[in-house]
Order: sequence, then structure tokens, then C-alpha cells
Amino acid sequence: MTQSNSRIVAAWRARTPASAELAGEAARLFPSGVTHDARLQDPYSPYIARAEGGHKWDVDGNRYVDFFGGHGALILGHGHPDVTAAIAAAAPEGTQFGASHPREVAWAQQISRMVPGAERIRFTSSGTEATLMALRLARAFTGRPQLLRFTGHFHGWHDHMTPGYANHFDGTPTPGVLAGVAEGIVLAPPGDLPAVERLLARGDVAAVILEPTGASFGQVPLRPEFLHALRAATERAGTLLIMDEVVTGFRVSPGGAQGAFGVRPDLSTFAKIVAGGMPGACVAGRRDVLDLLDVAATAAAGRERIGHQSTFNASPVSAAAGLACLRVVAGSDACERAAATAAALRAALNRVLASEGVPWAAYGTSSGFHLFTNPAGRAIRPDAFDPHAVPIEEIKNPNAHLVSRLRLALLLNGVDVNSRLSGFTSIAHDAADIETTAGALRESIAMLRAEGEL
Ligand SMILES: Cc1ncc(COP(=O)(O)O)c(C=O)c1O
Repeated sequence: MTQSNSRIVAAWRARTPASAELAGEAARLFPSGVTHDARLQDPYSPYIARAEGGHKWDVDGNRYVDFFGGHGALILGHGHPDVTAAIAAAAPEGTQFGASHPREVAWAQQISRMVPGAERIRFTSSGTEATLMALRLARAFTGRPQLLRFTGHFHGWHDHMTPGYANHFDGTPTPGVLAGVAEGIVLAPPGDLPAVERLLARGDVAAVILEPTGASFGQVPLRPEFLHALRAATERAGTLLIMDEVVTGFRVSPGGAQGAFGVRPDLSTFAKIVAGGMPGACVAGRRDVLDLLDVAATAAAGRERIGHQSTFNASPVSAAAGLACLRVVAGSDACERAAATAAALRAALNRVLASEGVPWAAYGTSSGFHLFTNPAGRAIRPDAFDPHAVPIEEIKNPNAHLVSRLRLALLLNGVDVNSRLSGFTSIAHDAADIETTAGALRESIAMLRAEGEL
């Protein structure tokens, strides 16, 4: 159905007049009315006034079970008391010293205790900057020009990482990116070890970068065995392995995906949870590689140093939040609890799909879930769905209209998942949230059927 005769859209507009007004203003100010592509929603998404635990409330007073999870930053949920107290203590003491400060040292100490390969750390403000730094380090360290990445894997929006994420799978530059930059990237199909080995054999690949559990936190999953094989292959080729743990770090386990699967990369990038819900990120890894940022080490080695600035590196308030969050993750079963909630949620959603006779599936690992809406009409059983058997082109190309309308229906029923129909669980989500979400899916299916979308 078009927007004008959709009852879902009409109900949404009726439920959210204050959001509609803000969206109207935003459309005049921001391209597409949003400040992050993943927040796009037709006709508009809710404007959030506040959040607590596993929930958030919009400016019209509607409550949502929040699985958007701050783009994955909130394994402890919104406003965890330790994190809030740390921010409240740090903020009045100063938000920007233009100087080194004690909290950055404690923050880095905590990271290096949790991530065995973190011999050296450099803070940045975002995951995008962290992958940019890791890739530059790898090129400088190896003296090689090429970077190998996997189709569909996301590593931020800087020039090197745009071709091959959502489009330009032939490696051609996305608009505004220089052809010469795109030529420095080689793309491989995810999980295809022979393809990787062929490319590594050229001898010009500085680094392989990947999302260790697969594209979009395992929406297109990779098996842990692939990580082990990739580690061995990169070692043989003298190529650095960069694990982009921006999402998986401190979520898959307190030591990230590398801790869970026992694979040590040369470099890792962390963001999101590392800063406890505040802006902050880092590159961590081998001392000899990060020493390319070090004045004395580069002078001693007779090498030209890589410069690194940026006003908000290791911001004291982010450091406080990050330290508090990581202490909770390290000192509790937070990763397991959030993962157990996600497993129970996936099972509950699959029971709804099975009982409604909808051939979709909820799947995922760790504290994540993805809803597969089966664009090719495969014969699948929700509880026995194997995402490894589905090619990336199919998983990443659902019916966009259906996905958008389903997300809106879920919002109407009090649940916020992200625009890919994926979500993150936190320790703040509970059995009642799972029940609400299962009910929301059942009701959303009925709404979609009523308007002929299903
Ligand atoms: C795996 C991965 N790498 C890098 C990034 C970029 O991080 P940021 O959004 O902090 O720039 C993201 C963001 O979602 C991500 O998921």
C-alpha cells in the first residue's frame, strides 16, 4: 500500500504528532531529515525524549522496548547507575583539558586487562576514526599499498571503507571518493578463504580487516573457524589482521570476539561499548605497529612517524563512562546475560512466526538478533533457519518497503528495532520485554496482512 492509504502509516501519524512536527523541521535542516542513515524511517522515526534501562520514550509519551541499543553501545542499557554516576562525577570537573589526565590512563589500563593483545592503545573519537588509523598503521608498517576487506562488512564511512559495503561491489569508488583510493582496496566474498589466499599471494596486501562475527554483527554470519584460518593465512602472507570489534568488543565476551574465539589479531578497533554510551573509540594492538605513532620509537628505528591529533581524543567524560562500563562488563556476567536474553527473544519470535505461518526467521548469536524476511520465498522453518546457507545478496536485499512498514508496525506496538530489523539486547531487558516484543510481532503481522503486505 502507498503511504496515503496505509492504515499503519495513518495510525503512526495519529500516535506521534510531536515527532511529526520535529520531523518536519528536521527535513528543512538535515538531508533526508536525519543525522545518521540508519535512522531513516518512512514517513519519520520517533523523536526520543528520554531513555532508561531497556526502554525509551518519545516526545509524545509513547514507550518503546529499545533494541536499537544506541547502535550497539549500550550493553548495560540506558542510564546504568555506575555509568551515570561516573559521568556525573567527571562532567563538573571539566569536559576538555587539552591535556593528559588520570582517567585516560585508567581507561586504557582497563582495556589492556580485558584484551590480551592490547599492548598499546590510541584513543579516537569514533569507530570510523579508529579503522582509519588502523589501516594507515598497517600500510605504513608493512610498506604495502592494498587493503583487503569483505563485501558487506562495515568499518565506518571514511573514503577507504565505502566501496563494497552497501554497493559498488565491483570496488569502484562511491561518489566523492577518489579512484586512486578505491584502487587501494581489494574486496573478497565473506568467508571465502581460497579467494583471500589468492589475493594475499600477490604479496601487496598490508592488512585484512573484518567484522569478526560477520557483516552487521553476524547478519551475514562467519564461522569462528574462518577467523582461525584467516589468522593463519595472514600470518603466512606477512599481512596484518585487523579485527574491527567496534560492535563485538566487550559484547561477545569481555575480551570481545577475539577473546571468545581465541584468535589474536595484530590490531583491533573498538568503539561503542568501550566508551560506555559516550563518544569514544580506540585502536589497540601490537606494540611494534602502534610504535609508528611513537616519537622515540620511530626516531630509534629511523622511520617517519605517523601524526595523530583530534580535539576530543580520550575525552575525560567519555573516559569516565567507558571505564565504569568496562568495569561492570569485566566484573559481571553482563555479556552472558545479554546473550541469554537475545537467545530467549529469538526463540519467542520464532514461535510467533511458526504459529502465524510466516516463513521468516529470527536468528543471530551473542546479544543480537536479526529478522530474515525471506525475499526469495525459501522454504524455511523459523526455528531451523541456517543463515550460512543464504548468500549475502539475499540477506542484504530484503523487500525494502516491507521492512520499512514492518519496522513502523513494530514501533506502533511499542518496540524499536533498527532499520535492518536487527537489534541488540542489554542486561536491562527482561522477560516482560521479550513478551512485549513477541506480542508486537504478532500484532504487526496482523497489521501487515490487513493491508495486503503479507
Ligand atoms: C563494525 C563497525 N565498524 C566501524 C563502525 C564505525 O563506528 P562509528 O559509528 O563510531 O564511527 C561501526 C559503526 O556502526 C561498526 O559497526
